[in-house]
Amino acid sequence: MTELAIAFTLNGERRALRVPAHRTLLHVLRDDCGAVEVKEGCGEGVCGTCTVLLDGEPVSSCLVLAPRVAGRDVVTLRGLCEGDALHPLQEAFVAHGAAQCGFCTPGMILTAYALLRERPHPTRADVRRAIAGNLCRCTGYTKIVDAILAAAGPGEPRDGA
Ligand code: FES
Ligand code: FES
Repeated sequence: MTELAIAFTLNGERRALRVPAHRTLLHVLRDDCGAVEVKEGCGEGVCGTCTVLLDGEPVSSCLVLAPRVAGRDVVTLRGLCEGDALHPLQEAFVAHGAAQCGFCTPGMILTAYALLRERPHPTRADVRRAIAGNLCRCTGYTKIVDAILAAAGPGEPRDGA
């Protein structure tokens, strides 16, 4: 089995390890780096549960081969926290009851984080569009959208959709 040496940044810390060439980023994060906050759902790029930020962009880590992250920057949900303090998006998810089983939540929040970085005051339609690739079996999405809009705070007019 071909193994490759890779180094990348995970939540601000440099990681260097040898990985099989076919190993996914998802499994490297969970099994080799202990980043169990990254969840596996479908394992084939459909559900968005395994979303992480790669160089700031949300990606399905089950679709990324680990050697492709060499020299790049990976952020998981844990990387949004400041020590023990939750990120405002996490606070909003708690306050709005936007997490039930919580399985989709890490990927959902990272997708929302990327959206708010690009559009600090999105419309409800923007939020729905952004999280369209993140499936949730529990919440019905309304509370998730409410939480993301609450984390964004007041700003540009919303579309009221
Ligand atoms: S586990 Fe990666 S998209 Fe579903
Ligand atoms: S809270 Fe259970 S899948 Fe979303």
